[in-house]
Amino acid sequence: QTTFDIAVLGGDGIGPEVVAEGLKVLAATGVDVRTTEYDLGAARWHRTGETLPDSVVEELRGHDGILLGAIGDPTVPSGVLERGVLLPLRFALDHYVNLRPAKLFPGVTSPLSTEVTDKGLDFVVVREGTEGPYVGNGGALRVGTPHEIATEVSVNTRFGVERVVRDAFARAQGRPRKHLTLVHKHNVLVHAGHLWRRTVEEVGAEFPDVETAYQHVDAATIFLATDPARFDVIVTDNLFGDIITDIAAAVAGGIGLAASGNINPTREAPSMFEPVHGSAPDIAGQGKADPTAAILSVAMLLDHLGRTEDAQRVESAVAADLAERSAERSTSAIGDAVAARL
Ligand code: IPM
Ligand code: MN
Repeated sequence: QTTFDIAVLGGDGIGPEVVAEGLKVLAATGVDVRTTEYDLGAARWHRTGETLPDSVVEELRGHDGILLGAIGDPTVPSGVLERGVLLPLRFALDHYVNLRPAKLFPGVTSPLSTEVTDKGLDFVVVREGTEGPYVGNGGALRVGTPHEIATEVSVNTRFGVERVVRDAFARAQGRPRKHLTLVHKHNVLVHAGHLWRRTVEEVGAEFPDVETAYQHVDAATIFLATDPARFDVIVTDNLFGDIITDIAAAVAGGIGLAASGNINPTREAPSMFEPVHGSAPDIAGQGKADPTAAILSVAMLLDHLGRTEDAQRVESAVAADLAERSAERSTSAIGDAVAARL
């Protein structure tokens, strides 16, 4: 395939600004892409009341990949865009692998001491993307009364857990250390926890070279902040994965550098790549946002499209840019600098 059809969803806040830099870098790789922009997020909701029309989902299915900026805005009630745009996209396109690498690039300052980071900080979190407490299974009774009841029920299916665990094992198998850590909380969440634990044990039999470990999620946060070198691949559920990937981003130099892929490994629907950060409305429109996470998301997109060398070139250009970073630069200056290296 020579031309890739990429859908671009800038979204809210700093989303469009950082995505523009990602596209600038994508263009600089010389890879032949045709981009189509879709307007989703706060502006559309205010204008039409729509979040994610079915017709848009159907059009997105026709693309080779999706690049997303950020969804969420303080002028819209909390949850409307998250539950109305971002999560339905992940669910409809069956993005069951939410892949979030955490790697400390040379020259980047981590809040951890060099004594800790010298041991290594290069791991990837495989966060389940379609189940857990995110499915919206719950409800509220007697709202506003002193007897209000709210439930958010985490859904974990054998099918859903097994497919993401198998993907995580395969990724671990392909890495030099071949190490996989399950993060959960099976001492309290016994039903889901033991399903995850048993599934890791059973699928692990197919991957005899991969060594496995287990951490409760609370303990995992300690090790992420004190000894991240112990992690290679982490597999975990949707909510634990959401939380620990923010810690992972923080220790790897900040949320401005953290990229992610919402991946459908079956390729029956396009995968979607996005920075881990949100829409940061406080700095939107000021040219202050760091587009590096969006640019690294483009690298992940290229890798997913089979353009491994181009992905590597983008990552190397970012690494070189990070190594030489000194004064603060604007969003577009960073995009220009990375693009110039290609
Ligand atoms: C993320 C975000 C989303 C999530 C929100 C915006 C719904 O925090 O991509 O990590 O919780 O998955
Ligand atoms: Mn998050």
